[in-house]
This record gives sequence, structure tokens and C-alpha cells, in this order.
Amino acid sequence: MSKIMPLISANCGKISPASVEDYVRAGGFSGLQKALKMPPTQIINEVKKAKLRGRGGAGYPAGSKWQQLYEIKHFPKYIVCNADEGEPGTFKDKLLLEKDPLRVIEGMTIAGYVFNAHDGYIYIRGEYAALQDDFQAAIDSAVRAGYLGDKILGTDYSYHLHIMTGAGAYVCGENSAMLNSIEGKVGRPRVKPPHLAEVGLFQQPTLVNNVESFANIPTIMQIGGEKYLSYGTVDSGGTKLICLSGNVANPGVYEVPFGLTLRDLIYDEELGGGPSGQKKIKFFHLGGQSGPCGFLSQLDTPYCYQALRDKGLSVGSGAIVVMDESVCVIDYLKAVTEFFIHESCGKCTPCREGNKQIYALLDKFAQGTASKEDYALLQRLSTLLAKASFCGLGQAAATALSTCLKNLQAEFDAHIEGRCPAGVCFTKQESGEQ
Ligand SMILES: Cc1cc2nc3c(=O)[nH]c(=O)nc-3n(C[C@H](O)[C@H](O)[C@H](O)COP(=O)(O)O)c2cc1C
Ligand code: SF4
Repeated sequence: MSKIMPLISANCGKISPASVEDYVRAGGFSGLQKALKMPPTQIINEVKKAKLRGRGGAGYPAGSKWQQLYEIKHFPKYIVCNADEGEPGTFKDKLLLEKDPLRVIEGMTIAGYVFNAHDGYIYIRGEYAALQDDFQAAIDSAVRAGYLGDKILGTDYSYHLHIMTGAGAYVCGENSAMLNSIEGKVGRPRVKPPHLAEVGLFQQPTLVNNVESFANIPTIMQIGGEKYLSYGTVDSGGTKLICLSGNVANPGVYEVPFGLTLRDLIYDEELGGGPSGQKKIKFFHLGGQSGPCGFLSQLDTPYCYQALRDKGLSVGSGAIVVMDESVCVIDYLKAVTEFFIHESCGKCTPCREGNKQIYALLDKFAQGTASKEDYALLQRLSTLLAKASFCGLGQAAATALSTCLKNLQAEFDAHIEGRCPAGVCFTKQESGEQ
């Protein structure tokens, strides 16, 4: 039996993306039609039963988030779709935006109806500029067909969608920084509380969900929360779009049910297909640069929120970057840290300065001048960043580092002794190159 389960990616590549006719023929907008006849509380209950967890990275239960916003009786409310997709190794929202935009629009419209919101915003990352015209074309065709805009499908409900765009800052994917950016302010994270459900976009109650999260809503409406849950595990309903990349034979986006093991995802012929070359896999990085690294001893862990968490791992954005033995962990972590130095907004000291300190220490390992004290300092710094940084960017910047310090200590020790097991560091000095 196939391990791939295309629930929300079923239309991708099979329909013309902006064609309402194609989308409706494939069952599209039936979720919205059903939802418009249901009381909002019943829709929220279906999302709760589905145990849909946010697909943007944090994995917060969507049903609880929707319930919290619903209980706030202050209007207008806004719906925001996070299409910033800045996490390196993550390219699954792009698939949906590009190949099935009407599904995202339908999910956002159902959410709009639940909260009696009349405006929704989709924040598409600047690097996806080429997608924006096509997404606008999909919005326009949905309006023309009566599924969006004034008096949707002859009801009294009106809802308008607006595209906003960023300029390529990773921190603008953080929900409060994104709202600042939409408001035309500098894209820096806000102090929380107040939470965005209370004081969000334009200081109004706001729902922020990821593209993939919204794309699941039409399916939940069509098949019901219980059925949707049954595709996954008891705590992680449905399916997940995973992005495989790195030293893996079959890189790409795959939709899989929660509950397959990491081994299935990385080695199965239909999925990752194992390492791309002759070398064995050394580690894999889950959920993007801000996620933890996993190791061979963890390969039999089921890919779902709780089981991964129990092992110190996480689903995050769905990225799985596979690294084989040709990769030096120090070299890899230097690249990860360089990313965070570049993307840190500079607002708080632990993140702004801590990442630079981590990089300098890693460089000592790469140069063969590090000591045991430097290893201990890296441990302390990784804890400090997690505890003292202002927002999720700094809090997660050293997650990969801390998992590698714990699980690949031998490789750090080898560098202290002047050996690089992957043969990446010191080679310049040994060969006398400048
Ligand atoms: C630095 C940083 C970057 C983030 N980038 C994204 C992103 O690109 N896309 C996304 O959906 N969520 C991103 N998030 C998570 C959002 O803050 C938020 O949790 C998410 O949009 C909520 O939607 P969900 O519950 O459907 O996942 C980021 C968080 C942080 C701290
Ligand atoms: S942790 Fe601090 S410096 Fe880093 S991005 Fe967040 S607010 Fe900015």
C-alpha cells in the first residue's frame, strides 16, 4: 500500500490553478457550501475533533486557537494567512499556493465566516513574487464565481481577500512581526501578551494560521473531523506535507499520514529513497533551521507531534534535511548559525550577540583551536539563547546546536583533538593552501 496520502495535495498538478470550474469539478468549495449552513461553533468543533495542529511550525492546536478567538466578542476581526515560508528547507506552502490556490482561499473563507470577519490577508513572502499575480488571478476568479466577495453564494456574508508581501526577512514569519509588516511598520516581533486573538492586526482580534493549516479546512468540512483524525494518529490528525532535501535520493514535497516512522520517510523507495550517494546518513534536521537534529538511533520514532516531542524532536514546518557522513557537523552548524546572525532583527541581546558568540566558538572547532571549555560554553550559550531571547527566532536558533552537542559529542571531541571525521575542516592547513 502506498505511503503517500494526497488529501490536500490531491489537485496539485491535476487542475488549472485559477480555474474555479476545475476546482469545483474536483470537489472544491463543497466544504464552504457545507460550512455556510452550519453554526460557527459546530465548525470549530469539527476542527477540534480533527485535532488539526498548526502547520507553520509551532504545532498549536487549531481548534483551541479558533475557540479562543470566537469567544472574544469584539469586532471587526481579521483573518491572516501566513505564507511567509521563510524556514530553510521548507517549500510545501509554495506547492499549495502555486498549484491549488483556491483550496487556500476556501479555507480562509470558511475561517472568515466562523469569525464573521469581512477582510482576510495573505502575507506572501517577497521571494515568491512570481506567485502573487497567479494568486490574485485565483482570488478574482473566486469572486467572479460568487465564492468570495460580496454576498457569498447568495448569503448575507461578505468577505474580501487581500495579498500583502514581505521583503524577505525571516523574522516576518513570526506572527506578530508579520502583522507589524502588514500594517506598514518595521517587521519586528511584538511583546506578548496581549495575544493576537485579542490585539492583532490593526489592534483588532485576529486569527493567524499557516497556508497548509488553512488548506486542511475544506477537507475537514467535507469529510468531518473524526474521519480526518483517523488518517493520522490519536494526537496528530490527518496528513502532513513534508519537504525532503539534502543528501537524499528523492528530494521533494510528499503528503504523508502522521504515524509513519522517520525511517519510512527517509528510506522508503516511494519517499526519500535513502541517501543520495554511497555514504551513510549521519543526521537529519527536522522542521527547518530552527528545529532539532535527529540521529540514526531515533529513526524508528513515529512522525507525529507527541512521539517526536517525547524524543526531543519536532515536526516544525515539515522540513527534513538529510545529511550524510560527508558532512561535518561543525561546518553544518556554522552555516545554520550564520543564517540566524543574518536574520536576527537585533532587538534583543541574547539573539543578536549570542549567535555571533556561538559562531566564533564553532569556528574555533573548525580551526582545531577549541578546548573542552569551549564545548561547555556552547552548551551554556545554547541554553541561554533558548531561555533569554525575546522571540521564537532567538529561542530556537540554537536548537540544532544543542541536539548535536548531546548526540554527536564524539565529533566535537575529534575536532578538539585536531581531527575532522568528515575530512572537511583543517584540510586547507594540511595541504598548505591559503
Ligand atoms: C522566526 C519565526 C519565523 C516563522 N516563520 C513562519 C512562516 O514562515 N510561516 C508560518 O506559517 N509560520 C511561521 N512562524 C510561526 C508563526 O509565528 C505562527 O505560529 C504561525 O503562523 C501560526 O499558524 P499555524 O498555527 O497554522 O501554524 C514563524 C515563527 C517564528 C518565531
Ligand atoms: S530573538 Fe530578539 S533579536 Fe532575535 S529576532 Fe527575536 S526579537 Fe529580534
